[in-house]
Amino acid sequence: MMVHIPQVLSAEQVSHCREVFARATWEDGRGTAGHQSARVKKNLQLPEGGPEARALGDLVLGGLEKSPLFISAVLPRRVFPPLFNRYEPHMAFGSHVDNAIRPLPGGAERLRTDVSATLFLSEPDSYDGGELVVEDTYGSHAVKLPAGDLIVYPASSLHHVTPITRGARLASFFWVQSMVRDVSQRALLFDLDMAIMRLNQEVPQSPSLVMLTGVYHNLLRQWSDP
Ligand code: NI
Repeated sequence: MMVHIPQVLSAEQVSHCREVFARATWEDGRGTAGHQSARVKKNLQLPEGGPEARALGDLVLGGLEKSPLFISAVLPRRVFPPLFNRYEPHMAFGSHVDNAIRPLPGGAERLRTDVSATLFLSEPDSYDGGELVVEDTYGSHAVKLPAGDLIVYPASSLHHVTPITRGARLASFFWVQSMVRDVSQRALLFDLDMAIMRLNQEVPQSPSLVMLTGVYHNLLRQWSDP
């Protein structure tokens, strides 16, 4: 299940990110890669835990908290502090699966990566290449979104970023541990929630709304690990 979540950051917030990026010192992106992915990863990152990544990460987390679509699609239990990357011409990230377990900053706790997320921070016409390509059972899906928009997809998916041929691609990326570990259960809950919201628009007085909302919460009660 891939879900496009528009406008997690406003145009003003996106330009603030880009101002900070212009002044920041970038480092080799292989620092946060696993053993296999380090061999296919070629990009730059803001230092993890550095002041820029922390401040901009809080901005991203604030946008996620205000997004009902993100919450419905992901059912977040906890979110890894967002990281930031930059791809310049000839940079790319070959096919890989993200690490299943990530130590949280401080090292005492760990997060299981159920959902991977990329928040685009460059306008699509400002660079060529740089599509995020996600493989699932229905084939491969190339994603390139307006600045400020987010894509979420199962962290179990093979994915890659195609080489940049012009300009620079700036993005934030992070992982989420969901209250609902199983992707098919998450997808059912998301579909049900979307149908309830639509019915609420179309037939606001429908008694079925109460029953369907009850079914949603009772499924969530069975499947979640809050
Ligand atoms: Ni990845």
